[in-house]
Amino acid sequence: MKVLGIVGSPRKGGNTEILVERVLAGASKAGAEVELFRLNELDIKGCQGCNYCQENERCRQQDDMQKIYDELFSADAVVIGSPIYISYVTAQTKIFLDRLYALLKVGEGSRLPAGKKCVLVYSQGGGNDGRKVMESLAAFFKGAFGMDVKAIIGDNNLNPLGAVNERKDVLQRAFEVGEALVR
Ligand SMILES: Cc1cc2nc3c(=O)[nH]c(=O)nc-3n(C[C@H](O)[C@H](O)[C@H](O)COP(=O)(O)O)c2cc1C
Repeated sequence: MKVLGIVGSPRKGGNTEILVERVLAGASKAGAEVELFRLNELDIKGCQGCNYCQENERCRQQDDMQKIYDELFSADAVVIGSPIYISYVTAQTKIFLDRLYALLKVGEGSRLPAGKKCVLVYSQGGGNDGRKVMESLAAFFKGAFGMDVKAIIGDNNLNPLGAVNERKDVLQRAFEVGEALVR
């Protein structure tokens, strides 16, 4: 069992990273092999809209996204986390999402095998955009890649770095969701 974590926050030690790591910690305790990617530390360019992937089954841009494509194929579960920036995911996360286009063949469907498990994580300052954004992404991951979205984890009032460390209930749930990915 392999679980891949994707962190879309630029803040190291931020709330998104803490929550994604908690899910991975739960999965690891239950026996999974885990790997974490921090998008902000990687060289991943935006989709160029060239449609090369539609004819060639791969993205022509040779950057760090190639490693993530490989890991997505071999992973059994993926944990994707982003803070809410201006009512949506961060730019780093959106670039990652756009590049998933290379794993789709328009009119035919997913190039990734269906049935991978997915957990979506958010962190936000206030309001209810986090849940709405992640529900919309859950529908995308189910519809486009046939993923089995197991949980959306996140909370409000999380502006200070590491504030989620005070939310023991959220941390506990993240850990338990991670453990359950392996069962
Ligand atoms: C550029 C920017 C835009 C933001 N926009 C929103 C927003 O629209 N809604 C919201 O609830 N919080 C917003 N926030 C607050 C972050 O979502 C919040 O601080 C989050 O917990 C940061 O996650 P992190 O600790 O993983 O970096 C914004 C923060 C920044 C820096």
